[in-house]
This record gives sequence, C-alpha cells and structure tokens, in this order.
Amino acid sequence: MSHKVAVLGTGKIGEALLSGMIRGGWSPSDLLVTARRPERAAQLRERYGVESVSNADAAKTADTLILTVKPQDMGALLDELAPHVPAERLVISGAAGIPTSFFEERLAPETPVVRVMTNTPALVDEAMSVISAGTHATDAHLAHAEEIFGGVGKTLRVPESQQDAATALSGSGPAYFYFLVEAMTDAGILLGLPRDKAHDLIVQAAIGAAVMLRDSGEHPVKLRENVTSPAGTTINAIRELENHGVRAALIAALEAARDRSRALASGNG
Ligand SMILES: NC(=O)c1ccc[n+]([C@@H]2O[C@H](COP(=O)([O-])OP(=O)(O)OC[C@H]3O[C@@H](n4cnc5c(N)ncnc54)[C@H](OP(=O)(O)O)[C@@H]3O)[C@@H](O)[C@H]2O)c1
Repeated sequence: MSHKVAVLGTGKIGEALLSGMIRGGWSPSDLLVTARRPERAAQLRERYGVESVSNADAAKTADTLILTVKPQDMGALLDELAPHVPAERLVISGAAGIPTSFFEERLAPETPVVRVMTNTPALVDEAMSVISAGTHATDAHLAHAEEIFGGVGKTLRVPESQQDAATALSGSGPAYFYFLVEAMTDAGILLGLPRDKAHDLIVQAAIGAAVMLRDSGEHPVKLRENVTSPAGTTINAIRELENHGVRAALIAALEAARDRSRALASGNG
C-alpha cells in the first residue's frame, strides 16, 4: 500500500528533502508538494514530476505532512491546515525553534507531531537532522521521520529538551566552519597567497580533517597531536589560539546560540 508524503512550503529545505527522497527511491507519485507561488509549483512539477496541490488538499490526501515554511509563516499555515488534518496524520515540522506543543495546540487532539532540526548540508546529502517526538508521536512515527530525513544525511534522536542545544551545535554549525574558512583565507592572503589558492588549501584541509574525524575512530585530541610535533609550526599556532581565547569564545558562542533558540521557542522572537 502506498504511503503519501506531502511537503508543505517547498523552499530550499523542502526541495532538498524532496530531491533526497526521490534519489533514495521514493516514487514521485507518492509525493505531493505545496508552494505559495504558482511559478514555484510549476518549477517543482517540472524538476521532480511531483503533483502540486493546495495546502488543504495535501492535508486531506497525504499520510504524512512535512511542514517546511519559515517559522514566522507557521502560524498562518496551521490556521489554514487545521480544519483539514485528521488526528491520525503524522505532522513533521522542519522549522527551527518551534516546539511540538505549538502544533499540538492548533491541531486535532492527539495528532502525532515530530520536530526535526536539519541543516543546510541537506542540499548535498550531508545533513545532520535532529529528531524529537511530540506528546503523541510513537517510535514508529520517529522511525518514519528518520526514513525521510535519512535520505539527505544522518539523523539523531534527542529529547525535545535538547533541541536548543542541537540547534546551536549542528543547525548553526556549518556557519561556524564557513566563518573559520573565511578567516583562515584572509590569513593566507596576509601570508602572501592569492585568495583562490588560500581558499583551495583551507577547504581541502577542512574536508580532509572532517573525513578523518568521521572515519578514523580517533579522538580529536589524538588527531591534533598527530599534527603537533615538538617545537614545530602547529604548536606555535595553537599557543596563539589559546592566547586569544578561541576555545572560550566557541563555548560562549554556542551558549549564545542555544539561548537565542530558547528565546525563539518561547515566542520571545
Ligand atoms: N535554511 C536553513 O539553514 C535551515 C536549516 C534548518 C532548518 N531550517 C528550517 O527550514 C524551514 C524552511 O527554511 P528555508 O530556508 O527552506 O526557507 P524558504 O526557502 O523560504 O522555504 C519556505 C517556503 O515556504 C513557502 N511558503 C510560505 N508560506 C506558505 C504557505 N502558506 N503555503 C505554501 N508555501 C508557503 C515559501 O514561499 P515563497 O517562496 O513564496 O516565500 C517558501 O518557498 C524554516 O522553518 C527553517 O527554520 C532552515
């Protein structure tokens, strides 16, 4: 029996998910999309061969609804959907910072809701999607969300109380690495390298380090020690990083991101 999944508000993240599901073997005939603008709907139909429908029709027809509008558009979307969503529909929210209670209060009693915080590497199938159950979501609902988001990368289940921390680490995480690459490229220019060469050197160092971190099974400290020979170049750089409080700055930065996520979740935007 086919299981229909609808992506409502198919923008960047919604399209990344949709394309990941199709690459992962979902049939376009089991997928529905909704969009605010007709030209966007036509573009999605053309690119993926999926049917585009109204939000109300998606709510009536699909077994699983994935809501990927911006957080500020979620209230309006739920107002539109609520009269059409039967209580057994699984509702998956991909919106940053909105708690499952926000959906549960606006949908039929006992509607299963799953909250997912993914990140932009979903666009290249390297996402980290952090998944939490709402009050009425079962293990099977979580497994279904994992199946969908597993198409664009890794998934991890956490209690919803840890979602703000996960948002600070992996939701915003790619931005910290882009920031580092930008700063290190500037350093390369200061050292006399052309920008494009400095960029290539840093990006490949980042990819190499990321693959080592993922695949070697070694602790990051051990990997760093392997590059840090006595009285060598690396230890001189590390001393400067410590002198400038980079470790403490990272801890403070992630704490600030976690606090902002908490404030947004409590409607204190
Ligand atoms: N981008 C990220 O880094 C990231 C990471 C993790 C999670 N998220 C979450 O993912 C969600 C989507 O982010 P995004 O970057 O993909 O945003 P986006 O590109 O703006 O996608 C949202 C889409 O929803 C459409 N839309 C809004 N209201 C609608 C409605 N009532 N009915 C149908 N379509 C509607 C928008 O249409 P228009 O094109 O007309 O505006 C837009 O195409 C957000 O909640 C965000 O918190 C984003």
